[in-house]
Amino acid sequence: MPTTLWSSRFVFIMAAVGSAVGLGNIWKFPYITGENGGGAFVLVYLACIAIIGLPLMMSEVMLGRRGRKSPIGTMAAVANDEGRSKQWVGVGIMATLAAFIILSFYSVIAGWTMPYILSALKGEFSDISADNSGALFGQLLASPGQLLVWHSAFMVMTVLVSAGGVRHGLERAVTKLMPALFVLLLILVGYASTTGHFAQTLTFLFKPDFTALTAEGVLTALGHAFFTLSLASGAMMAYGAYLPQHVSIARTAVVVAIMDTGVALLAGLAIFPIVFANGLAAGEGPGLIFVTLPVAFGQMPGGGFFATLFFVLLLFAAWTSSISMLESLVSYLNEKGISRVKAAIGGGIAAWLLGITTVLSLNVWSEVTPLAMFSRFESKTLFDLYDYLTANIMMPLGALFIALFVGWKMQATHSRTELGAWHKVWFPIVRYLTPLALLTVFAFNIWGLAGLEAAWHWLTASGQG
Ligand code: TRP
Repeated sequence: MPTTLWSSRFVFIMAAVGSAVGLGNIWKFPYITGENGGGAFVLVYLACIAIIGLPLMMSEVMLGRRGRKSPIGTMAAVANDEGRSKQWVGVGIMATLAAFIILSFYSVIAGWTMPYILSALKGEFSDISADNSGALFGQLLASPGQLLVWHSAFMVMTVLVSAGGVRHGLERAVTKLMPALFVLLLILVGYASTTGHFAQTLTFLFKPDFTALTAEGVLTALGHAFFTLSLASGAMMAYGAYLPQHVSIARTAVVVAIMDTGVALLAGLAIFPIVFANGLAAGEGPGLIFVTLPVAFGQMPGGGFFATLFFVLLLFAAWTSSISMLESLVSYLNEKGISRVKAAIGGGIAAWLLGITTVLSLNVWSEVTPLAMFSRFESKTLFDLYDYLTANIMMPLGALFIALFVGWKMQATHSRTELGAWHKVWFPIVRYLTPLALLTVFAFNIWGLAGLEAAWHWLTASGQG
């Protein structure tokens, strides 16, 4: 048993929200929504959160609390308790590895917020044009030296809290900063609603146009549901390990999922009116918020102040997320007898080194596409590949195994003790719906529509025979 637990349900919620709310909500959600044509993508994403993400979050927190160890230790312990194969530890290992890879590039992107804070302080966004804003962002990406400095600074911040123990460092930060970020987003939405393009944004985000949605888009939405809720990567298991026994896991998970989704939608509502009003491309890509928001701040009264505040809060949101990414690895190493300080520093250095390849793939190696022989990966840089590997392969796969474990391998009496009345709804979902949905998305992506039809024929034919 760990010696300390979260001091209350509220603190756990805030830590989990701190982990969930981050670049995924404010940076990634708007840009992938833009790239995937809006409404239909948003709808699939919301469905993925509700029917796959939420039950999975409950599963992970439950496993964490039962195991009361690192994700790797927890999977080993719970599988053992249930009399299941030792191989289940692989789920913990893959989760820890995914979190580690994500941390490596997350730190680079989180680093972008720091020069933006400086520019905002210097008033550089005042009356900036969309073109100039694009150029400013381009200059940042073109400079490996600058990117490396900020990546390093962010990694040091992450290691500092991790080394000190997340339960102490995190508590005060998350309870104040998360609400502040929320308020600031509301202000931005308020501003965006004055641009005259709010109605167009509502249509774009909430009126599904299924012709704009591709199979790839569905997988991206699914992968993002995991990413944004910090699932299938050990974070929620690691935090669940510190959850007091009396707290309702289901209600807590619902609150976290709602807050996380709320922040993402607010970010979309704040950003797209500005995109449309300035004739920018919704499919701009990873630079979307860094190019669009300065334009808005530049025109807003008090824009310098709001811009500074916004990028500071974004930095903090990313920080409380990155800490949770390192936690899987640090808690594991700690179990193996390595001190928290050493584990955090060692893990941080390793992730920092890997992150350098992301820094380079934004400039010097921007033409390096290691998997170009496969048409799907033709134009994917190393950074794109890390993102794809984690969000579209490792996390959905990890999620599938977790659902299979709690749905089929763990005794239902055990999960019922943990989840109480909610078990009735949760159990059939993780037992049938989640695996089926995940397998469908996999099949769809590997074999396309023809593959799905073939599978359907096979199923119906064997049913008759
Ligand atoms: N959920 C965070 C975000 O949206 C990212 C994150 C935090 C994460 N911890 C994680 C992603 C663990 C994957 C794994 O920004």
